[in-house]
Amino acid sequence: MSGVDRRTFLKAGAVAGAATTTTLSTTGSASAAEPVIFQHGVASGDPLPDSVLLWTRVITSSPIKWEVARDEDFRRIVKRGTTHTSADRDHTVKVDVRGLLPNRHHWYRFRVGDVVSPVGRTKTAGCGSELNFGMASCANWSMGHFAGYGFLAQQDLDAVIHLGDYIYEGVYAPEVRPADPPHECVTLDDYRRRHAQVKTDRHVQAMHAAHPVIATWDDHESADNSSSIGSPLHDPATEGPWGVRLAAATQAYFEWMPVRDNKVDRSFQFGHLASLTMLDLRSFRTDTTILGAAQRTWLIDRLTRDDSRWKLVGNSVMISPFKIPPAPGFPSSNPDQWDGFPADRELVLRALGERRNTVFLTGDIHSSWACEVPFEGRSVATEFITTSLTSDNFDELLKVPPRTGSVLLEAQIQLLNPHAKFVELDSHGVGTVKVTAGEVRYDWHYTADRKDPDSAVTRAHSYRTRHDTAQVERVLP
Ligand SMILES: [Fe+2]
Repeated sequence: MSGVDRRTFLKAGAVAGAATTTTLSTTGSASAAEPVIFQHGVASGDPLPDSVLLWTRVITSSPIKWEVARDEDFRRIVKRGTTHTSADRDHTVKVDVRGLLPNRHHWYRFRVGDVVSPVGRTKTAGCGSELNFGMASCANWSMGHFAGYGFLAQQDLDAVIHLGDYIYEGVYAPEVRPADPPHECVTLDDYRRRHAQVKTDRHVQAMHAAHPVIATWDDHESADNSSSIGSPLHDPATEGPWGVRLAAATQAYFEWMPVRDNKVDRSFQFGHLASLTMLDLRSFRTDTTILGAAQRTWLIDRLTRDDSRWKLVGNSVMISPFKIPPAPGFPSSNPDQWDGFPADRELVLRALGERRNTVFLTGDIHSSWACEVPFEGRSVATEFITTSLTSDNFDELLKVPPRTGSVLLEAQIQLLNPHAKFVELDSHGVGTVKVTAGEVRYDWHYTADRKDPDSAVTRAHSYRTRHDTAQVERVLP
């Protein structure tokens, strides 16, 4: 982090501290004596060339003023306005700021009376000669701390791409820190509480205050291995209709996440260098399709007509085939990922034709992979998979020490899946992607200890795909 940025955050912290002690005489659904506070930080998301979505949460019925500036001291304010919130939306605030210049940092803050929020920094879409993204998935509050988000907060990034499991609906062991609510989320109030808890984390707040986030969901934003028709862990007899639960989870997600238009299947453009297509692999999923007909048509149309140098796809679950070696407690394949939907996968991969610069950016599987996506005997795309921030990896699932039992499993996986050029099953962390005209490079950054909020985070592996190859190769240190 630069000195300038560090000052911004220190300043924001001081303001946030002051905010917690200031009381306004007019408050909304809170009692008149309840202080107005920006307890959950600020966030931004979904950057377009001229627009970015701003987010915060504050309990008040008073007007909420917002400002966007070109400098961290707010001397050059370029946009300002006033908005309101209410209990109907859990007191969350979203502002879609338009009319900004592309590819520029902006600073933003909210104000209720004399109480000022922390300052956030964001960036509109665009590009120079390179693009840099953070990658994250599978942030299980119960199972650990989010040092990986803290690491991303300090990087120079255009945005953070979040591939899902931003929250987990359940309560998990080992419970490094207690979840709120202390039971599985089922109701709207449950999901709101879980989102609220995640946004009290200092690393989560730092990441959101530093970069716009482009997020899609996976299953645990609602329930394990969820689809439009249910979840294997949802019991209608005791938990009510699935549709009611899914609507509650969805409402809480859109209240609490900086996502535009209550929609996660959407696309972004970063100059001619890259497009980013984000998929929704849960809302339209049935027993026979992972995409649904409308999203499939839209995705294929985008991938075949887009003339961006690189076509990045934010893909919550693995698209490369994964034959699982025989291991106690493991099935031979995972039908929750694209392997369970071969017809959809065939249509998408066939549509790529001779185009070779499609790069799937994937989460979900709590491990690190670099793959050449095979189709009819050749590679038609590449896939880089980010590991989990904290959710159990294979060593933890197998209950063996790291870099012991899973090392053999990695070798077996690569024998059975020769398109998987790199597999690492044990480490937690985050990823970064650097996009230039010549290559897309992916770095995995691992946390030393998921139980330590101040864990070291260090770069462990790097792979890249070069222009027009659909192949991956290791980048030596
Ligand atoms: Fe996960």
